Amino acid sequence: MKNKESILLGVNVDHVATVRQARGTDYPSPLKAALIAESSGADSITIHLREDRRHIQLNDLILMLEHLSIRINLEMAITSEMIDIAIKHNPSDCCLVPEKREELTTEGGLDVINQIDLVSDACNQLITNGIRPSLFIDPNQDQLKAAKLCGVSVVELHTGLYADAISSTNKKDELARIREAAEFGSSIGLTIHAGHGLNYDNVSEVASIKEIVELNIGHSIVARSLFYGIGAAVKDMRTLITRTT
Ligand code: PXP
Repeated sequence: MKNKESILLGVNVDHVATVRQARGTDYPSPLKAALIAESSGADSITIHLREDRRHIQLNDLILMLEHLSIRINLEMAITSEMIDIAIKHNPSDCCLVPEKREELTTEGGLDVINQIDLVSDACNQLITNGIRPSLFIDPNQDQLKAAKLCGVSVVELHTGLYADAISSTNKKDELARIREAAEFGSSIGLTIHAGHGLNYDNVSEVASIKEIVELNIGHSIVARSLFYGIGAAVKDMRTLITRTT
């Protein structure tokens, strides 16, 4: 008899805010999307409060902290402004990411190796304030070792290159890199999350990597919700990421 193993699903609602900001209206509400995602099986909600505030605003974080029961994972760059916001508002989790103003979305993982003091200091401040930090890194052993040195217990592996790979060889290679990084990270005691660019067609292979305990997915869920509603989009994703062991 086969067992179904549930993997955690973090739903990123940034792009609900993108639609709102496009017209400067007060709808659609990222909080409402998050509440529906919560009641449809999301284990956490991720929001990226960017320096340029292009989608999520500080008030979205405040409202979500007030109204949601599930974990809130605040994605943010390592700046003193963002660390102060995290410490003041106290989400359960913070994912530290690199951020460039001109990028469409987060490009590449955080280079932990070359800024170990900065990253360690940010992690220490978050941990001291009861927040669980994670580092968004490329699936690379040296970055994983550096992440461990910074004192984090969680890393999120960047799946963007896998998601963007066009040829099947390239896709296979990128999937192997994610698998090897997940195995190595887990072997040195890190909890492994993954995300970026995952959608209804490419998620199953990543979800089948047994060391991965949580996936963070945004764009494809919000896009699907245009046709089926966010509740159905979350449920469909949940079904796809359930492993059979
Ligand atoms: N994880 C991280 C660290 C991200 O920066 C993003 C994009 O905001 C995601 C996951 C979700 O990526 P996507 O929207 O492509 O599913």
